[in-house]
Amino acid sequence: MATDLVPAVHSLTLRVLIVDDEVSVRKVMAAVLAQLGLPCETAASGDEALHVLETHRIDAVISDLQMPGMSGMELLAKVKQIYPGTVFLMVTGVDDTRVGVQAMRQANIVLASLTRALHVKRLEQEVENYRHHLEEIVAEQTQQLREALHQIERSYDHTLEVLGAAIDLRDSPTAGHSRRVFLYSIEIAKAMGGLENQMRNIAMGAWLHDIGKLAIPDAILLKPGPLTDEERAIMQRHAQIGYDLVKGIPFLADAAEIIFAHHERCDGSGYPRGLKTAEIPVGARIFAVADTFDAMTSDRPYRRALPFEASREVIERGAGKQYDSQLAREFLSIPEETWEVIRRETAALQDFAFATASDIQALSKPVKSAG
Ligand SMILES: [Fe+2]
Repeated sequence: MATDLVPAVHSLTLRVLIVDDEVSVRKVMAAVLAQLGLPCETAASGDEALHVLETHRIDAVISDLQMPGMSGMELLAKVKQIYPGTVFLMVTGVDDTRVGVQAMRQANIVLASLTRALHVKRLEQEVENYRHHLEEIVAEQTQQLREALHQIERSYDHTLEVLGAAIDLRDSPTAGHSRRVFLYSIEIAKAMGGLENQMRNIAMGAWLHDIGKLAIPDAILLKPGPLTDEERAIMQRHAQIGYDLVKGIPFLADAAEIIFAHHERCDGSGYPRGLKTAEIPVGARIFAVADTFDAMTSDRPYRRALPFEASREVIERGAGKQYDSQLAREFLSIPEETWEVIRRETAALQDFAFATASDIQALSKPVKSAG
C-alpha cells in the first residue's frame, strides 16, 4: 500500500495537516507520513488547525474526532465551508489505543483512505491540466484564424483596389474619380460623426459605386455628345447592375445598398427608385455630396475644373433638395485645405493606378481575341 502511495504523493507534492490533541499520536502519524515522502504540519486543536490552514497550503486534513474544545465534526464543518477543495479524513479511536503500534496501524488505515482521496484529487488535477491545455490550443488556433482572416481581408482590399482602378480606366474622362470620392466620402463621414461602424461600408460603396458601368457598352459610356433617351435608360441601369453584382458578397452587402442608391436624390428626383432622404442609405447620401464636389472640381473634356468655392455654392444651394441638408452643412464646415491635400495625394497616386489598370488591360487582350 505504502509503495503505491509514494509516486502519487511525489507527483502531487500534497501537504497534510494532522490534528490531534495527543502529542504522541501527532508524532507517530507525522513520522509515518514523512517516511512516505508526505510533508506534514501538525495542530493540537481545531483552532490551531484553522490557523495552520490560514497560513499554509494544505491539501488534506487528518483529524481526531474527539478533542477538547472544537470537536473533529465542528472542524470538518468549518474546513468544508472555508476550504471546500481540501480532503478531510476523520480518525476515530480510544485514546489509549492510538499510541505506539496501534497508532502505526491507524496511520496505515488513514493512508489507505488518503490514497483514494489523493487519487481523486490527482484525476481532478489532470482534468484541470487538460482543460488548461485545451484553452491554450484554442487560444493559439484563434490567433492563427484571426491572422488568416486579416490576410484574406487585405487580399480583398487589394482586389477591390484594382477593381476600382479598372472602373476608372473604362470611364477615362473621370480618371481617379473612384479614389477621390472614396476619400471625400470618408472625410464627410468623419465630420458627420457616429458612423464609425459604417465607415468601411461607406468607403467600399464609394469606391465601387460605378462598378455596374463595366456592363455598359463603350458606344454609350464613352459617347462624346449627349445621350438619347434610350441610351440614357441603358446608362442608368448601371446602378442596378452594380447592386446585382455585389449584393451576393456577404462583406459587401451593405456597400451594395450604397451602390444601388448612389444616384438617388433627397427630393426623390433620382434613380433607379426615386427614393427620398430617409429612404436613402446614409453612405449614398454622403456619396452624392462627394460625387458632385469631385465632378465640379475635376477637368472635363468640355471645360476646366471649377474652383472649390463654386462647387461649395452648388452644394449649399442643393441642400435639402438634391442633398441631405445636414450632410451639406457638415461638408461646408470642412476647410478647403483638407480637400486640397486629398487631391494632391490622389494625383500622386494616379500613375500607380494607371499602371495597375494597364496591366489588367494587357492581360485581358488574349481573352478578347480568343472570344
Ligand atoms: Fe454612377
